[in-house]
This record gives sequence, C-alpha cells and structure tokens, in this order.
Amino acid sequence: MKIFIIGSGGREHALTWKLSQSPKIDKLYCAPGNPGMAQIAECVDISADKLESLRDFALKQQVDITVAGPDDCLAAGVVDVFQKAGLKIFGPTQKAARIESSKSYAKKLMAQTGIPTAQYAEFDDHHKALEYLISPKYPLVIKADGLALGKGVFICHSSDEAGQAIKSMMVDGSFGQAGSKVIIEEFLQGPEVSIHAFCDGRTAKIFPSAQDHKAAYDGDQGPNTGGMGTYAPVPWVSAEMISDIQNKIVGPIIKAMTEDGNPFTGCLYPGLIYTKDGFKVLEFNARFGDPETQSYMRLLETDLLEIIEACIDGRLSDMNIKWSNNSACCIVAASGGYPGSYQKGFEVNGIDKAQEKSGIVVFQAGTKKEKGKIISSGGRVLGVTAIGKDLKESLDKGYDALTQIHFNGMHFRKDIGRKGLQ
Ligand code: AMP
Ligand code: GLY
Repeated sequence: MKIFIIGSGGREHALTWKLSQSPKIDKLYCAPGNPGMAQIAECVDISADKLESLRDFALKQQVDITVAGPDDCLAAGVVDVFQKAGLKIFGPTQKAARIESSKSYAKKLMAQTGIPTAQYAEFDDHHKALEYLISPKYPLVIKADGLALGKGVFICHSSDEAGQAIKSMMVDGSFGQAGSKVIIEEFLQGPEVSIHAFCDGRTAKIFPSAQDHKAAYDGDQGPNTGGMGTYAPVPWVSAEMISDIQNKIVGPIIKAMTEDGNPFTGCLYPGLIYTKDGFKVLEFNARFGDPETQSYMRLLETDLLEIIEACIDGRLSDMNIKWSNNSACCIVAASGGYPGSYQKGFEVNGIDKAQEKSGIVVFQAGTKKEKGKIISSGGRVLGVTAIGKDLKESLDKGYDALTQIHFNGMHFRKDIGRKGLQ
C-alpha cells in the first residue's frame, strides 16, 4: 500500500517510523517531512496548509491512505477535501475537529452531556466579558475560542490581569479571529494527564496514559511551550481510573458527537486534570499529541496501519490493540530561547551516536539538511525517546543518550518524568 503522512514535526516522524514497520506498506510519502523522515520515506515539498496540492499529490500517486498530523490542517478541512476526491484519510472532518478548534463547541457538548470540566461562561462582546470580571473568584482562566498555537490560555490572578487578557484578545486582536470569542472558566488544580484514543466514529480505544511537560523550564517554571517531554504510562493512573475516563469522558463525548451529526474518526486527545473531585477535561484535541506520540509509538505493538484502516472502515471494535508493558519517554531538545525568539541554523551533532545506544530512537522536528549536515530550523529541534522496563530505566537511558547530542544553545528540561517517579 502507499501511505502519505502530512506534517513535519516529531509527532509525524514518530508516526512515519511506526508505519514504516508495517509489512503492508510498499511506499511512504511525507509532506513536507523532515530529514529524519526522509531516511524512511520520500519527502515531497508541499506544506501542510496547501490542502488542494496535498490532495492532487495523493490522487496522482494513487495513495491508499493519508494520515494528517497537525491541528491546523484538520481544522481547515483537509479530511473533507480528501474525502470529496474519494481518497481515504485518517482524521476528523472539519466539523468534528471543532472539538479542538472551537472551545465553545467543546464546552457546549460537555455541558449537554455532563462531562466533568471547569465551570465557564462565554463571551463574544468584550464589554460583557469585562463586566463579568467584577464578581468571580481569582485566579480564573481566560481562553481564546479558536486555535492559538497553545498560547491562547491566560491564568489571571486579578481583575486587572484578566481585563488585560480580554483587551488583548478581543480588542487588540492578538490571536486574530481565534480570540474574537473567549471562554472564562474556573481555575482547576491538580496533576495533568494526556489521554489518547483511536476512534472510528462509534468506538474509542484508549492508549496508556501519558504526561506532557508544557512549561519551558524545570519545576514547571517559565512560559508554556508545545511540550518539552513526555512519558507513558503514568504509574499512578490505575486501570480503574482509565475505565472511569472511558465511561465518563471519552465514551460520552464520542456518543455526543455522533448524535450531533459529527462522528469523530481519528485520534482524540483529551487533556485532563486530576482534581480533588476526580478527572476533569481541560480541553479536547482532535489529533495525536506532540510529544506524546513520540513516547506512544515506542510502546505500540500492533501494526499502526491496521488500526488506522479499522478506524477509517468503522470496525475498530473488532481490533485488539496491544501495548508493550515497558515504559517510554521522550526528552525534547529545543533551541535556546524557545518558546520566545531563538536563533536557528546551528549544526546538530550526535543523532547517530545517540541512536547507537540500546533502546534509543531520535525523532527529528525543527531540523533541515544542508550539505549533508543536520541544521536546527525550529523551536523544538528533536526528541530523544527511550524505552525501559520501568520509568526510571527509560529516563536514565534517555538522558544518557541525550549527552551525545549537541547544538549551539541547546536547551532541555532535566526533570522529565520526575513526577512519575514520586
Ligand atoms: P488548554 O489549551 O485548554 O489545555 O490549556 C493549556 C494549559 O493551561 C493546560 O495544560 C493547563 O496547564 C492550563 N489550564 C487550562 N485550563 C485550565 C483551568 N481551567 N485551570 C487550570 N489550568 C488550566
Ligand atoms: N502535547 C501538547 C499538544 O500536543 O498539544
């Protein structure tokens, strides 16, 4: 079969790596891909937002199945564009992707269905939003309705701070259209957990739990990033908790979306927080997490292509998905200064040496190849993944392999997984 992966990050490298192990695959294409993906697939120079060009490429090459990685191409309707042309693609339609691309849509469905989440109010008029700020308890959380590269969430400790966030989003338009509507919600406290589920529109099968590290610096300090590292599974998330998440969150949202006329096919990724009242939903994502996927693909034993086909064909309930009993981690190496401004164009050394160590795979993200050398070209440059019999062993191996990798200004967190060890 011919398979086509859209995207160029560590997530897409991990998906490509796993798909490349499928005996059913004759040819793998990626657009636009990265140098890591180019070692196992043919990369074509089409960016992920050129939906019609991507479709035309898939038609011309007679691609059997396409896998769309990034949130923005899903929100823009890549699945609808491909399906209209008679092409098979893994991911939610534009309307179903609103579970991520419109927090207002997600909140409404959760409220209707009784899915546990923060209390909220929504506003598309900034005067009314500002009036609302007078009475509530602080801190409170203000979120842009639409996609904002993970930067559209403000935790505000006073009405002044909250007023500034509202002004910046609704008056100054700092997130464009995404911030013209805002959600103001209750501040929740507790450890965060990433849940993922393969979905075929009716059935959802949950992965092992994972934890991301969103803050840039150790001890969860500094600004939020796309994610500085992950591990899976999370030792304290029990089988009973997972079945609770299935029964109270994942199952009900899948049912609600089907009833709403927008069945969800693809990977659903609820971001949860474990409060004193149990798990609550912070957000739903309509795609694989990055860098969760890098850890997950090291643990998945079943052929990913077979799972994807079962999701597209609506027969996921017949599938038995196997995960290894090992523990996996991904430690991200980022450009100095990320997520703020950073320099790029530095040579990245040591990827091969790191991968010579047992249990290590390096997934590239913000890299490019110039004159045979790997050069940094983005904020998150790569992720070192390791597996071990338990979390400690996988982290020890991951950090040991990371010592082989160097580039100017390289920054990584030294405490990935530490919370899982406590
Ligand atoms: P989101 O994009 O909605 O997941 O929010 C990004 C991050 O903001 C989350 O990972 C949390 O760390 C934080 N956050 C979002 N909503 C809340 C909330 N209601 N209470 C506390 N923290 C939150
Ligand atoms: N792990 C964060 C994200 O993918 O949104």
